[in-house]
Amino acid sequence: ALTDDALYALPKAELHLHIEGTLEPELAFELAARNGVDLPYATVEELSAQYDFDDLQSFLDLYYATMAVLRTREDFAELTRRYLRRAHAQGVRHAELFFDPQAHTARGVAFDDVVDGIGDALDEAGREFGMSGGLILCFLRDQPVASAEEALTAGLRRTDRIVGVGLDSAEVGYPPSLFEDVYARARAAGLHAVAHAGEEGPPAYVREALDLLHAERIDHGIRSIEDPELVARLAGEHIPLTVCPLSNVRLRATPDLRDHPLHRLDAAGVRVTVNSDDPAYFGGYAGQNFAAVRDALGLTADQARRFARTSIEASFASDERKAELL
Ligand code: ADE
Ligand code: ZN
Repeated sequence: ALTDDALYALPKAELHLHIEGTLEPELAFELAARNGVDLPYATVEELSAQYDFDDLQSFLDLYYATMAVLRTREDFAELTRRYLRRAHAQGVRHAELFFDPQAHTARGVAFDDVVDGIGDALDEAGREFGMSGGLILCFLRDQPVASAEEALTAGLRRTDRIVGVGLDSAEVGYPPSLFEDVYARARAAGLHAVAHAGEEGPPAYVREALDLLHAERIDHGIRSIEDPELVARLAGEHIPLTVCPLSNVRLRATPDLRDHPLHRLDAAGVRVTVNSDDPAYFGGYAGQNFAAVRDALGLTADQARRFARTSIEASFASDERKAELL
């Protein structure tokens, strides 16, 4: 049998991880006290009891409210430090971290404090346990495009840390096409491009992310399964999907993990990876997502090795670094 330890031991890259989604209730209360921020819950238990979601929006409401406790460079460093330690214990050797700068600058937090805090922890993890990683600046698709343009302008000054751009937050009603010009500017500056698409939104959004944003990977992308031509295209063009099984169940993007399309996409030749999205909220880090797939869908040692290997190949690490990890 494929044990948790065997799954955790596989060297893997985390390609779909919102650093703000690693804020565990305990740290949220610590930071709230330190920063004099009021949380609308009295205890860790009361906050954890809110982690019962109907859909993406019900999660996002809590996610944006709770991140108000993150104020300083050291807060972002501590958040990231704790995440990287947990991820490393589950086999993550390279982590590409999404962050949502608009959700912080709107609260008066300096863009550079966010980037530098996360960066401090990445440097430490490199020194202490040889991890590598980078930052992916995500645009909030439910905010005005002008705000995304401002975030990109700030981000283009920090390409020492930022390796790419992404697109997240409420999906339906906010198609990738809105961000065509923002992405063109990011790509012209040499940044990689990824985008959330086909989580709650239709397969047409996945097509737009490919055709208009020139996304190199699709985050989630699970609704592609509804469109066989799109599945064939993803396979033919070797576009990786960063799939997040526990997230999909908790946000009811899939009714039950046993119905999840991961294996059907894999069988159709799509390059799939297994990731954790917002692990503090969805009940599991990278290795635990592999274990959940094993329990609900079945997972052979061969499949597990292949998904882990694909995550490293599909990462934006240098060729030298990939060779070390493969
Ligand atoms: N922001 C954080 N997690 C997200 C998700 N799963 N989908 C869209 N936006 C997000
Ligand atoms: Zn996500």
